[in-house]
Amino acid sequence: MIDRRQALALGAAAMAAPASARTSRDPFLWGAATAGHQVEGNNVNADIWLLEQVKPTLFAEPSGDACDSLHRWDQDVAIVKALGLNAYRFSVEWSRIEPAEGQFSQAYLDHYARIVDRCRASGLAPVVTFSHFTTPRWFAAHGGWEAPDAPTLFARYCDRVARAMAPGISHALTFNEPNLSINGPWSRFRPNAKSNAATQAMLAAAARQSGSDRFSLLNAGDSTPMIPGVLRAHRLGRAAIKAVRGDLPVGMSLAISDDVSVGGDAMLAAKRRAYYEPFFEAGRDDDFLGVQTYERTYIGPSGPVDTPASTPRCADGKPYEPEAIGGSIRYTHKATGKPILVTENGIDTTDDAERARFISAAIAAVEAARRDGIPVLGYIHWSLLDNFEWLSGYKPRYGLVAVDRTTFKRTVKPSAHVLGGIAQAGGTR
Ligand code: FCB
Repeated sequence: MIDRRQALALGAAAMAAPASARTSRDPFLWGAATAGHQVEGNNVNADIWLLEQVKPTLFAEPSGDACDSLHRWDQDVAIVKALGLNAYRFSVEWSRIEPAEGQFSQAYLDHYARIVDRCRASGLAPVVTFSHFTTPRWFAAHGGWEAPDAPTLFARYCDRVARAMAPGISHALTFNEPNLSINGPWSRFRPNAKSNAATQAMLAAAARQSGSDRFSLLNAGDSTPMIPGVLRAHRLGRAAIKAVRGDLPVGMSLAISDDVSVGGDAMLAAKRRAYYEPFFEAGRDDDFLGVQTYERTYIGPSGPVDTPASTPRCADGKPYEPEAIGGSIRYTHKATGKPILVTENGIDTTDDAERARFISAAIAAVEAARRDGIPVLGYIHWSLLDNFEWLSGYKPRYGLVAVDRTTFKRTVKPSAHVLGGIAQAGGTR
C-alpha cells in the first residue's frame, strides 16, 4: 500500500524574524486541520479530481462526496469549538474560486469568508492554506507550476482570496508541503521505472481529456522541475497577501522529517540542501514556518536505512515515533530562526487509544522544545476528520472524528477529547 509520505508522489543561516512576526506572547494555538479536497466533496474542477477519474489512475478510489464538508463545514467548526480547541486549519480551493482562468467566483469567496467569520465568532483562530496540493484543472493543463506565468496566476488568486477574507485570518499558508516530492538518493520512497510509467500514463490521460499536451501538478512524480516556479509563486503570493493586510502572518508548511544521521552526515547535508533549504531561503521574509512531521528518517552514507529494531511499533508494525516532532521543530528553528507553527502532526491508526497516547507524547516533545526557548506558535493536529487520503483513498484513519461514508454523521473519538483536554489545561501538565 502506498504510504502517506508518498502522497501523490509516484513516479541557512539563521534569519531574524521580521518585526511583524507574531511572537510567543500570542495565545498558543491548539487546533485540528483539514484540507478542501480531502473533506469537501465533489471538487470537480480540481486537477486531482480528474486524475481520480481517468483510466489508468493510481488512486485507490475517487474522492466523491468526501465528508461533504462543503455543506457541513459549520458542524466541523462547531466540533473544533466544542472540543475546547482554539484554532481550525482549513484550505480554500483554488479550483472553486477560479474554475476557469480569470473567472472568479464571488459565491465561493463568500463561502470561505463565512467559514473564517464563523471561526472568529466561535473564538477560533482560522489558519488558512491557499494551496493544499490541488490546483484548478485548467492550471494543470496549462503547464502547472512549470508554466512561466504560474507565479503571477497564483499571486492573482492570492490577492482575490486576501481581499475577500484577510481581515479575519489568523495565519496564512501559501503552500502545503511543496517539498514533499523532491526526489534524491536520500528519499525514503523513490519512484522506480514502473511507478514512473504508471504516473506518466495517468497524466497523459488527464492531458488528453483536457485537450492539452500536458498536465502538470506537484507530487505526481518528481517535483524538482516545478520548484523554481513554486518558490517564486510563494514570494509573489505572500506579497499579494501582504499588500492587502500587511500585519497578517504569512508562511508556508513544509514536510519535515526528523532526520537522524547514522554515519550519513554528507547524505543528510545533501538532503537538507535540496529538500529544505531552498524553501527556507524563499521564506526568508516570512513571519513563521509551518512544520509537518509524521516520521523520523535514519540516513546512512548512501541513503535512508531501516528504523532501528529497538524502535517501538504501532499495532500495524509501523514505527511509533511521537517524539519526532520535537526533532523537526528544533532543526527548523535552528536553520531559519523563525517562529514555528506545527501545522500537521498525526498518526494513521484504527486504534484510537494509540492516537490518544501519540497526542500526549507528541505534545510533550513540543513542550520540551518550548522549554528550551524555541518559539512555537501552536500545535495543529492532522486531522479533524477521517478523510480522503489522496492515493490511498478512505482507508487511512488520521481523524479525531469518524465520518460515516453514507450519512456523513460525525462521531467524535476519545482521542479528540484528549487533545481538547490538553488544550484546555494549557499543556500536558
Ligand atoms: C500530509 C498532507 C495531508 C495529509 C497528511 C496525512 O502530507 O499534507 O493532506 O494527507 O499528510
